[in-house]
Amino acid sequence: MIRICMLGTGYVGLVSGSCLADFGNTVRCVDIDAGRIKMLQDGRIPIYEPGLGEMVTRNLRSGRLLFGTNLKEAVENSDVIFIAVGTPAASDGSTDLGSVFAAAESVASQLAGKKIIVQKSTVPVGTTRRIAALIEQRAPKNVQFEIVANPEFLREGSAVDDFLRPNRVIIGVESEWARNIMKQVYRPLYLIETPIVLTTLETAELIKYASNAFLATKISFINEIAAIAELFGANIDHVAKGMGLDRRIGPKFLHAGVGFGGSCLPKDVSSLIHQSRSRGYAPQLIEAVLRINDGLASLAVQKTREQLNTLDGKTIGVLGLAFKPNTDDLRDAPSIKIIASLLDDKSEVRVFDPAAMNRFKDTAGLNVTYCKDAYDVARGCDALILVTEWNEFRELDLGRLKEAMRDPVFVDCRNVYKPGPMSEQGFRYSSFGRGTF
Ligand SMILES: NC(=O)c1ccc[n+]([C@@H]2O[C@H](COP(=O)([O-])OP(=O)(O)OC[C@H]3O[C@@H](n4cnc5c(N)ncnc54)[C@H](O)[C@@H]3O)[C@@H](O)[C@H]2O)c1
Repeated sequence: MIRICMLGTGYVGLVSGSCLADFGNTVRCVDIDAGRIKMLQDGRIPIYEPGLGEMVTRNLRSGRLLFGTNLKEAVENSDVIFIAVGTPAASDGSTDLGSVFAAAESVASQLAGKKIIVQKSTVPVGTTRRIAALIEQRAPKNVQFEIVANPEFLREGSAVDDFLRPNRVIIGVESEWARNIMKQVYRPLYLIETPIVLTTLETAELIKYASNAFLATKISFINEIAAIAELFGANIDHVAKGMGLDRRIGPKFLHAGVGFGGSCLPKDVSSLIHQSRSRGYAPQLIEAVLRINDGLASLAVQKTREQLNTLDGKTIGVLGLAFKPNTDDLRDAPSIKIIASLLDDKSEVRVFDPAAMNRFKDTAGLNVTYCKDAYDVARGCDALILVTEWNEFRELDLGRLKEAMRDPVFVDCRNVYKPGPMSEQGFRYSSFGRGTF
């Protein structure tokens, strides 16, 4: 059993902390947000993440999971300190490392004895070594520590399961001692023979960016093919199926639509571009990946405008706000761009999301009408735009929906429905990369 301190209780810190406690380690989670810590101490979960509530409650009860704001106490009682704070994009597309360096400095001043510091946040290549240098400077002189890079690959919406059964664990580590301790931290994963890639700090950091850039590339690739499919009346769903059956390609991340959003892919792709450019290399492929993605929200609005001739004075319903189903995360969600553009064009906007409405009210600053479900959204609408493919939007009662609408226009940004049946139901239907079948 290893004693762990986890800095940051966001999507990654909270899930990683709870799961590492479930592995049998003792985990002290610390956050600078006292309100968040108070909620967690009371057993309330500040984010929507399936299965996380049970995991936190179970480990709180066992005494292996603790929440607090006292970093000194947490560091003193830990052998391994994880940094899992946010690394958002700065306005120029680079990574804002303010929280990571602040966290590292605060840890440095509390260090005593011999510790491992694990960089779990996604950080530009070379940052983990810079953190080590910073800690070296700030820590008391008799302290021994080693830095490890251990990027995280969990996906919001299935984060607990992803952490417990990852495809792989990437560990950038420089000594046998730290390697053995990290093995103990992840012991249950060794037992189920999870591939563990041991490598250098810089390589571990780049594996994270390369993986996200590749996933983003698959999405932009299929969206480019969707645009080509529309030119010829081909069906992108069949194209993707036909491609995905080739094992060298695989079926995942080949869904045409309004593209990727969220807290990781857009900012990580931008950051990789920025990192490369700062060293004098202009990455042509991944810059195109981002450009294609950036155009998709306006394409969704354009498809709606084409159906209605104008958006001025129209009432548009938006189904789904979160950047993907099973999360309440709105960071870089396509819904925000779409709604902002509809409002700019003087539409009224009605919205519903099963999990992200409160967060949207608090953060988006957009003037919309909040509804209680999809049918409520549809009332008096000139068009519905399906933006997030929550399960409850997959089996809508289309008759009831159409009945509630003023004009039966349906823009399907996730290709959930089929063009033929939708027009048989009387909808004027648009989707991405599909003709009329
Ligand atoms: N969200 C994901 O799906 C995901 C997946 C893989 C990797 N990542 C990466 O993991 C990192 C964290 O992402 P997230 O989504 O969990 O972020 P988040 O914004 O949800 O959470 C960050 C937390 O860190 C806290 N914090 C900030 N400074 C702190 C400090 N000095 N000490 C203690 N706590 C501090 C904040 O209060 C917040 O609660 C990022 O680098 C992200 O790119 C995220």
